[in-house]
Amino acid sequence: MDEIVPVEETDRKTPEIGPLGDVEFREVSSPGPSPLEIIGVCKRFEEGRQALEDVSLRIEKGKFVYLLGPNGAGKTTLFKLLYAAERPTLGELWVNGYEVHRLKMRQIPLLRRSLGIVFQDLKLIQRWTVFENVAFALQVLGRTKKEVLRKTSQALRQVGLEGKGHFSPDQLSAGEQQRAAIARAIVNEPALLLADEPTGNIDLRTAEEIVRLFEEINLRGTTILFATHDEGLAAFLPKDRIVLEQGRIVESSLSGAAGAKLDFA
Ligand SMILES: Nc1ncnc2c1ncn2[C@@H]1O[C@H](COP(=O)(O)OP(=O)(O)OP(=O)(O)O)[C@@H](O)[C@H]1O
Ligand SMILES: [Mg+2]
Repeated sequence: MDEIVPVEETDRKTPEIGPLGDVEFREVSSPGPSPLEIIGVCKRFEEGRQALEDVSLRIEKGKFVYLLGPNGAGKTTLFKLLYAAERPTLGELWVNGYEVHRLKMRQIPLLRRSLGIVFQDLKLIQRWTVFENVAFALQVLGRTKKEVLRKTSQALRQVGLEGKGHFSPDQLSAGEQQRAAIARAIVNEPALLLADEPTGNIDLRTAEEIVRLFEEINLRGTTILFATHDEGLAAFLPKDRIVLEQGRIVESSLSGAAGAKLDFA
């Protein structure tokens, strides 16, 4: 399939999300066991101020980590660097063994297939059904029709959207759309799940249900980085936390994350 998943207007000059369908798989050597490692990352946009300043952190396999910070702190920018929609101005990013800061364009789809991503603006394709949106993540991996059907149904069931697969995204409530985006991100059981404000548009009770859902996903072995500006939500289910303010890590419960430099010796 040659479908290109749309990106935000602001991303036009950067590598797009997709095309996902025409690249062969290839093993990429891993620098170590951590699914996510960032070293001294800075991001300055051509227009505007410095969005990230000397950010270093490492997330070990199996962790569930909140990325907290107010509007404009740099959370989405950090995610975009992690899935190579933006390039860092300085620094290194390692994700699932991919050296993201120097990834070639043709390797970007491989990186993204190794991840589950819940985008802040969801990026559901409106002309597709909910089922097709979720199934796409498996189809690009060349899974059989039977497996696509089984796993997509399972993911929809897991997020509580059983029976709504034939709806188009705009026939769903905001909370249900958020769940559909989560189903798409978890359907191929990624080792690392990046969730950018996955509870952004929903009421507190549904948000708490979604946090519980992420906990279940985490208990099955998926490492999670969950961005939210909602301290209350993070307090509801305490986990490791990194706090970003004006592009800098100002607090962290992860060892080595709060300092500007890490000693990896
Ligand atoms: N493409 C861009 N060009 C210029 N500046 C940008 C661009 N993208 C983000 N920024 C700036 O970078 C800063 C961080 O933005 P970012 O979207 O990462 O924040 P955020 O923590 O995700 O906020 P929110 O909680 O509102 O989603 C902001 O000051 C923003 O204006
Ligand atoms: Mg954001």
